[in-house]
Amino acid sequence: MKKDLLTFKDWNAEDLAGLIGLAESIKTTPAKYADVLKGKSIAAIFEKPSLRTRVSFDVGINKLGGHMVYLDVQSGKLAGREDAKDTAANLACWTDGIVARVFSHQTLVEFSEAADIPVINALCDLYHPCQAIADFLTLKETFGSLDNLTLAYVGDGNNVTHSLMIMGAILGVNVVSVTPEGYEVDQSIFSLCTTLAKASGAKITQSSDISAAKGANVLYADTWLSMGDETPLEKIKAIFDPYKVDEAMMKLTGATHVMHCQPAHRDLEISGTLIDSEASLLMQQAENRMHGQNAILTHLFESNS
Ligand code: CP
Repeated sequence: MKKDLLTFKDWNAEDLAGLIGLAESIKTTPAKYADVLKGKSIAAIFEKPSLRTRVSFDVGINKLGGHMVYLDVQSGKLAGREDAKDTAANLACWTDGIVARVFSHQTLVEFSEAADIPVINALCDLYHPCQAIADFLTLKETFGSLDNLTLAYVGDGNNVTHSLMIMGAILGVNVVSVTPEGYEVDQSIFSLCTTLAKASGAKITQSSDISAAKGANVLYADTWLSMGDETPLEKIKAIFDPYKVDEAMMKLTGATHVMHCQPAHRDLEISGTLIDSEASLLMQQAENRMHGQNAILTHLFESNS
């Protein structure tokens, strides 16, 4: 039966730790994986802009011996021509897998049902699993292990927060989401994460109070306005200003490192000097996007072969 990677929600701790281990192996010994996608073509369909995801999949698929076909849905020329399920069924006639960045998670569900080839979520409204695998690989490299770690996400509760919470809950990493009132994470996903955390012992919590991030090893920032959100910045800036991740917040919380999935807006959600500081893990996260995604591709194509 073909497998997809849409959320990580249904993974267990052992398999997830194994996937991170696979990413480490691919990063250190890439030659061993040079033929994983030999002769295979992957369609990459993007409804939203991307730098990191698009380039890291393109280069990463090439390093695994495969070929990526980029489909520019953003330009509008492809958008709306046919139902999503027909697009996916057609892509399955010629390609071996689909990477998709979409507005709605439901589109991925339809892709998965219509295509008998693996579908990988490259970001949707609810989840960003490819970001989360890169981030947990980065945490493991930085701290030597994922034991006894606390990650504090500070800002707008969004798709990245959801995927960090899911992965932390499964792997036993504490995650606290610190967001302004009215900008919390999806409460059904939060509830699922607290249930998942019962098996691992992770503490999954949320607060609107910055002091909830005290004691965290890492502060994690993200844009205050998600892609496609047309809210003028002036309308939300005063609400989010106290949640800006900067040197003062690092000192208050005692965090030693800072993360951001990027694109980052210097001196809005994170101070520019912090991005450029020794505490910054941003470029390590960016590099690890490719290794994490190549681990996902290797896992899916080995499972499906
Ligand atoms: N973090 C991330 O997904 O970056 P892009 O939007 O540039 O792909």
